[in-house]
Amino acid sequence: MTAQPPVLMDGFGRRVTYLRMSVTDRCDFRCVYCMSEEMEFLPRTQILSLEEMEQTARAFVELGVTKIRITGGEPLVRRSVLQLFHALGALDGLRELALTTNGSQLPRYAEELRRAGVRRLNISLDTLDPERFRRITRTGRLEKVLYGIEAARASGFERIKLNTVAMKGRNEDEILPIVDFAMERGLDISFIEEMPLGAVDGRDRREGFMSSNEVREAIEAVHPLQPTTESTGGPSRYFRIPGSETRIGFISPHTHNFCESCNRVRLTVEGQLLLCLGQEHSKDLRAVLRGQPGDREELRQAIVDAMTLKPRGHDFDATRMDRPAVLRHMNVTGG
Ligand code: GTP
Ligand code: 5AD
Ligand code: SF4
Repeated sequence: MTAQPPVLMDGFGRRVTYLRMSVTDRCDFRCVYCMSEEMEFLPRTQILSLEEMEQTARAFVELGVTKIRITGGEPLVRRSVLQLFHALGALDGLRELALTTNGSQLPRYAEELRRAGVRRLNISLDTLDPERFRRITRTGRLEKVLYGIEAARASGFERIKLNTVAMKGRNEDEILPIVDFAMERGLDISFIEEMPLGAVDGRDRREGFMSSNEVREAIEAVHPLQPTTESTGGPSRYFRIPGSETRIGFISPHTHNFCESCNRVRLTVEGQLLLCLGQEHSKDLRAVLRGQPGDREELRQAIVDAMTLKPRGHDFDATRMDRPAVLRHMNVTGG
């Protein structure tokens, strides 16, 4: 009898094959839905080293994880982070290495990321208006991100996806221009419903909330959308516009719950394994990494054991967006 390859299975029979790793809580932007204006970031001693991250990723791959997405904060502001991409890109058994970025550092890093084995990139873009961009990100410059998108296109990634958080009063009138921007460049795009993660100041998440159905109606007024069964292994439901290679996705945690088919867990930069984006359940892997350095079996066992903690799903409530469902900000969780 041949040995079965190891698998990670949770208590609800869902197989975990996708790890999202946050490599920093820092960012050069301060997006209004993600952070407060004044943020305190973690001290260096509390965060995992790039070597500890690599060891943890390796353990997950040995346990049957086939996809790793690097997230943040902004992953590309972490010093020497390319080293980690090269190490992960060389892991046997990892089928997909992906990155979610705000795009600002791509002019510098796009080519090397591609060489390290990153095939798909997700780049956040909520507006095409420089003034609005400044207001949404508080500190960012649109121009830099547009250069970043061009650098990524020139570097030959297989797919580039834009991520747009749809917000009333902020970018609801830009849905069609952003779709056109994506179509003209052959990019995919996901429209995201805002989630109540962490307290944000200066705005009420309830007032800005825009559902995927509202976004879809705005697009369908001009472009017919054909549903597809395509999946990138994430929560987006994809549609196609006939005659265009652009896929339009909707990430609708409030109005189209996808927890039933959840296949992912998250590692924070502090080494906490989070079993759900919208819940507190976690396991401290840093304690294992630092308590028994180099003990690969112990680390794998801790990960296997943690799967029983994975909850059925989040309980976000669009009418209660004024209260965070969890206290962690998105830059800690990594999206
Ligand atoms: P791929 O499918 O691999 O392209 O990635 P993705 O679109 O899932 O990842 P990305 O990092 O671009 O995240 C886009 C949005 O989806 C972010 O707002 C994430 O917070 C959200 N998201 C990703 N995974 C989950 C999840 O498990 N639950 C919820 N509620 N939102 C998620
Ligand atoms: N709700 C929904 N999406 C969010 N993002 C950041 N914070 C939130 C939130 N509260 C998005 C970013 C980025 C992705 C990783 O998550 O725009 O595209
Ligand atoms: Fe930075 Fe992304 Fe958060 Fe914006 S959403 S502040 S770009 S981590």
